Amino acid sequence: MQRLPDTPIPTFLVETQASANSHLADEISNLLKERARSLVLGLATGSSPIGLYAELVRRFEEDWVDLSFVQTFNLDEYRSLPAGHPTSYRTFMSEHLFSKINLGPKNTHLPPTEAEDLEAACKEWEETIRAAGGINWQLLGVGRNGHIGFNEPGSPFDSRTRRVKLAESTREANARFFDSADEVPTEAVTMGIGTILDAERLRVLAFGETKAEILERVLRGEDDSSIPLNALRGHRDAALYIDAAAASRLG
Ligand code: F6R
Repeated sequence: MQRLPDTPIPTFLVETQASANSHLADEISNLLKERARSLVLGLATGSSPIGLYAELVRRFEEDWVDLSFVQTFNLDEYRSLPAGHPTSYRTFMSEHLFSKINLGPKNTHLPPTEAEDLEAACKEWEETIRAAGGINWQLLGVGRNGHIGFNEPGSPFDSRTRRVKLAESTREANARFFDSADEVPTEAVTMGIGTILDAERLRVLAFGETKAEILERVLRGEDDSSIPLNALRGHRDAALYIDAAAASRLG
């Protein structure tokens, strides 16, 4: 793994996605030892984390570890998908991680999407994060437009958990998980950028050529505050892990 010089957010070029996944799985294992019974993880969905979740499952199957006390908070969830829908993020997390390791069922939290008073439910969700002690380690992917969570370009850097509309480019990018593009929800509930920045560590995975342009704009461009990923510039412990295809426009 090679640290790229002169990037506004610490950035590591990885030889393979597997090496990034193994590094991040090591970080989580170390935190599990250090923090004894109080680890709080922030999790993401999408393509980027699938390999990491598989690596965590592999490790915890090989070497059984008690994770029943770990609390997890996911970045976002679609609105208007019935519970148990095959493409809800709850289902995704269950398939890739929650059903495969011994997390306590009450300790896996996804943002509220169905409450009548959604604003109040979002405030309560933020309170649940605070009551858990705050997020120690947050995983992120990045959208082709620079979104983090479902904070689309132009989202304020101090935004909190809330209902949002998805950008058309996001709906198109995520259509691959649905039977047709029309089925992709138009709204979601996402942790805000401010909520994300509160985490002690932020770890971003960006793999593949479709991420090359946004990484060029963020890592080689001006500090453009309309791009959510740029919010990480001021964070005390943020790092990007990118592969050669994602780094192809960085020169
Ligand atoms: C998912 C999320 C999104 C994705 C981003 C990248 O929970 O918050 O911000 O991380 O859209 O998605 P992939 O990894 O599919 O390229």
